[in-house]
Amino acid sequence: MSDTYESARDPISSPTMTSYADRDKAFLNRSGTDGLTVDELRSTRAMWWDRAFTEMLLAELANPRRLVDIGCGLGAAAAALLPELPGLQYVGVDIDRMRLALAAPATYVAACAEALPFPNGAADVALFIATLQHVDDPVIVLREARRVAHRVVAVEPDNVAQQFYFGERLPGVTAASAALVSTVRRGDIAIGPRVPDLCVEAGFAAVRMRAYAIGVFRRGNADAFADWLRPILRIVDERLGTEVNCDAEISAWRASVPGNPVRHCGVVVPTIITHAS
Ligand SMILES: C[S@@+](CC[C@H](N)C(=O)[O-])C[C@H]1O[C@@H](n2cnc3c(N)ncnc32)[C@H](O)[C@@H]1O
Repeated sequence: MSDTYESARDPISSPTMTSYADRDKAFLNRSGTDGLTVDELRSTRAMWWDRAFTEMLLAELANPRRLVDIGCGLGAAAAALLPELPGLQYVGVDIDRMRLALAAPATYVAACAEALPFPNGAADVALFIATLQHVDDPVIVLREARRVAHRVVAVEPDNVAQQFYFGERLPGVTAASAALVSTVRRGDIAIGPRVPDLCVEAGFAAVRMRAYAIGVFRRGNADAFADWLRPILRIVDERLGTEVNCDAEISAWRASVPGNPVRHCGVVVPTIITHAS
């Protein structure tokens, strides 16, 4: 693996990366393919990435020795996994150099998931967390992961099916959110349930899926919850210039709740974990 990750010592100027960058500079230099700023990515991860999620990942990954984290972003997986797996050889790959520069301490390579700068069979596991939802052609990316790793663990959401609650389900806000996120044009933010079939298309023989819910719940009053909802839904609204007015839905919901009651509230997002080998 040390040879394999030679380029990681100087990821930005490694020969492999230079040639790929020359081929597709515009793509490589593009930033924020998921439409999130660094702060937004960090704060959303801080919101839902809890101890239970890390334990779930550890169980699913089954003690890998060499792991490539494809679309690693700010290295949230490195920060969670490296302290738990001291012998792990981890390399994070992302197209976004700015994120890698700000990522948690670990080894990173700036590269496209479509052309990884590693030889065949270099890693035990290729990990995707919320990456396949943002790529142009997930089958190409999965084929590349299959070339590089013996197995794949993909944790991908069904964002269109997310549900908002304030003591009970909020159909208006949930519907506005679904309408909003379904307008994301690049990638497929509801890719989770499709990943197992995409793995078959990419040539994996053994594929299995299971569900895991991510989300965040707290106890708070109605005003605080409305204030919490607005920036979450605005992220997509502003980035995409969509016509779905989530602010109006949130205001309508707030007006329908008399007083300022305290309830358990939050959001849950169905997430599909796919194992492929
Ligand atoms: C939603 S973020 C997830 C980051 C990280 N896995 C996490 O869960 O915190 C998706 C990441 O995939 C990266 N990405 C998108 N398309 C890519 C591609 N074609 N090649 C490499 N990385 C890509 C983005 O730059 C972004 O950092």
